Amino acid sequence: MTMNLTKLFEQHALEVFEIYNDSLIKQSMLYSFFAPGKRVRPLLMLKLISDYGLDPFIGLDGALALEMIHTYSLVHDDLPSMDNDSLRRGLPTNHVKFGEANAMLGGDALLTGAFEVLSRCSLNAENRVKCIQILSSRSGANGMVLGQYQDLSLINENSDFQALSAMYSLKTGELLSAALEMGAIIANQNEHIFALREIGLSLGLAFQIQDDLLEVTLTDEAIGKSTASDRDNHKVTAIRLLGQRKAEELIHSLFDSVTRKISELNLDGTELLDYIQELLKRQK
Ligand code: IPE
Ligand code: IPE
Ligand code: MG
Ligand code: MG
Repeated sequence: MTMNLTKLFEQHALEVFEIYNDSLIKQSMLYSFFAPGKRVRPLLMLKLISDYGLDPFIGLDGALALEMIHTYSLVHDDLPSMDNDSLRRGLPTNHVKFGEANAMLGGDALLTGAFEVLSRCSLNAENRVKCIQILSSRSGANGMVLGQYQDLSLINENSDFQALSAMYSLKTGELLSAALEMGAIIANQNEHIFALREIGLSLGLAFQIQDDLLEVTLTDEAIGKSTASDRDNHKVTAIRLLGQRKAEELIHSLFDSVTRKISELNLDGTELLDYIQELLKRQK
C-alpha cells in the first residue's frame, strides 16, 4: 500500500511540475525532489485521509505542497552556510551539483511553488485557505524556520535535553504536524486538529532522536546523507545527552504515546497506525 501510494504521489508530482518552463532552476528543483526520499510527510497525510474512509486522491496536491516545503528545507539545510553537507537522499547535495546560488534558487522555487500548488488545487476555497494557513505557519518563523535558527545559533554543547527537544519539535515536528492537520482539514474532520498537532509534534521529536541514533549506528552510505557535519560542528545530540539506551527507550515511549493517541481518534482504518509502526523500525 505504501508503495502504491508513493507511486501515485510521485506520478502526480511529475505532472504538476510540468507547469514550469525548462530551466536550470527547474532541474535543480526536480533533482532534489525526485531523489529517493521516504515521502514521510505525504504518506502521513494520505494515509490519514484514507483512514477517514476517503480516497487519498483528494489529498495529492496538499501532499505535494508538504513535500516541496520539506525538500526546500533540505536543500537549504545542506548549504555551506548551514550544515555544509555533500550527500543527501543518496546523491550529491543540490549545491554540489548545481552551485550554491542555483541551490538557493531551486529551494526558493520549491518553497513558493508549494503555495502556488495549494492555491490552485481543487479543494473548496475554505479548505484551501486553511491548508495554506497551516502549512505557512508550521513551516515559517514560529515553526520549522525557527527550529533551524535555534539549531544553528542557540543550541550548543552546554544545551540541555529540554532545549534540544524543543528545537527538534520545531525543526521536524512542526511539518509532521502540518501533514496530519492538513489531512484532517481536507477530510473535514476539524475536531481532530488539536490532537493531531500533538501527535505530529511527538512524532517529530521521536523521528529526530531516531536520526541521532541512526547517525551513530549506520554509515552515511546506508542512510544516504552525510553526518560528518554534526561532528564537525560539535553538535549536541540526544545520544550525547541521554546515552544510547535511554534514547532508545524514549523513542519507544514516544511512539507508544503516538500510537495510543491515534487509536483514540477511532479512525475507520489502520493505515496510519501501520505506517507509524514502519517508521519505528526505519533504518534510514
Ligand atoms: C530528514 O527528513 C530531515 C529531518 C527532518 C530529520 P527525512 O528523514 O524525512 O528525509 P527524506 O525526505 O527521507 O530524505
Ligand atoms: C534538518 O535537520 C531539518 C530540516 C531541514 C528542517 P538536520 O540538519 O538535523 O537533518 P539532516 O541530518 O541534515 O537530515
Ligand atoms: Mg540542520
Ligand atoms: Mg542537516
